[in-house]
Amino acid sequence: MKDQDKLRDKAIEILKSNDRGGYTVPTARLYPYQWNWDAGFSALGWATFDEARAWRELDLLFQGLWEDGLLPHIVFHQQSPDYYPGPEVWGTDGKAALPTSGISQPPVSASVARWMLDRASDTELAEARAAALYPKLLTQHRWWHQARDPENTGLVCTYHPWETGRDNSAEWDQPFTAVPETDTVFQRRDTALVDSAERPHQSEYRRYIYLVELFRSLDYDPPALYAQSPFKIYDIGINSILVRADRDLLALSERFGSAADQSDLRARLEQASAGFSKLWNAELNCYNGYDLLADKRLELPVSAGFLPLYAGLPSSDRAQSMSRELGRWGDRTRYLVPSLAPDHPLFEPKRYWRGPVWSVVNYMIGLGLQEYGFGDLAERIRADTLALTDVGDFHEYFNPEDGSGCGGGVFSWTAAIALWLSARQNHEPKS
Ligand code: DGY
Repeated sequence: MKDQDKLRDKAIEILKSNDRGGYTVPTARLYPYQWNWDAGFSALGWATFDEARAWRELDLLFQGLWEDGLLPHIVFHQQSPDYYPGPEVWGTDGKAALPTSGISQPPVSASVARWMLDRASDTELAEARAAALYPKLLTQHRWWHQARDPENTGLVCTYHPWETGRDNSAEWDQPFTAVPETDTVFQRRDTALVDSAERPHQSEYRRYIYLVELFRSLDYDPPALYAQSPFKIYDIGINSILVRADRDLLALSERFGSAADQSDLRARLEQASAGFSKLWNAELNCYNGYDLLADKRLELPVSAGFLPLYAGLPSSDRAQSMSRELGRWGDRTRYLVPSLAPDHPLFEPKRYWRGPVWSVVNYMIGLGLQEYGFGDLAERIRADTLALTDVGDFHEYFNPEDGSGCGGGVFSWTAAIALWLSARQNHEPKS
């Protein structure tokens, strides 16, 4: 059996072992529910060997859709003693058909649905499932455009690092100085399961929980959150992922939607592209997020700063500078793409989003580079991602210096991206 076949078999085994009857937990115990962007990427993995199961992943995620259009970052399909904060802390009863968290996560679902539709072997099934999902995707996107951009700037804001998916990125250090720590005494479960040197600090957790408690006290009301959240950021990851997903939703809309949907989405895409102009950082050769309360850019060289490539937004000159910068990072560390530049003083190769490599971010950056014509660099990132999966044994994230696996093991999205990358090689669609 070839090494690539072994890797593939193991990845399939991981997805199957994390299947909980139609949804996939990121990994047993550490993350015992269905997470939003994890579900999207897991679906891509399932799609390589079981298309019906892949569509079911998205269907179960959208069971948690709120009436107002928020697609939660966690859907609590069942109880688990292993995770904090669980449904009782979020207190979102009545918002959706199932208990959920009260924030969202990077909106990859429309892109995933489009990819699954475009590459389906069972086209009849895919047409039917995508058509059924389309109105829910539209509701989800409208929520982002309206609830999170009430002033029509073209950029959506976020109120919680968990919503960005990059919980302890160095980008939040400064904005977090304005967020109080909760007085609530709570028991973290993550550090009982994973080395605490690979997880966020306790002071960050106290602020994460403070924000949850505040949002709950405001009944998750969008205008109240916009007015009162002490953490209010244009996250470069969410905004880039949303632009790509808006484009993919537009493509779906041409098949399943109305002319009015399409003209709304086109207008939104134009607005977003104007909004991004203030996020370019010519010194760092990447884009940055923006702190709305401090009214300044978050000037840090993070991997998410290259996600505008995935959104197709940079001019070719900017894309060229970005690929050169990534090449420079690649000369300074064994594996691309570290979540923080490897020569930055805050770089920590094992601590969650402050240095480690994440397969899903690699996938999106690699795809963007390829679409801009930087094939060699895209191929290096693809090869590094697969090598890390092997060397670091399907962990949640990886030390960019030696490839060792960090965080949770037996990890669904790492397995899923390995499956997708090996199945599709470099044959992604142009869009
Ligand atoms: C966690 O619990 O670590 C998650 O990132 C929150 O979604």
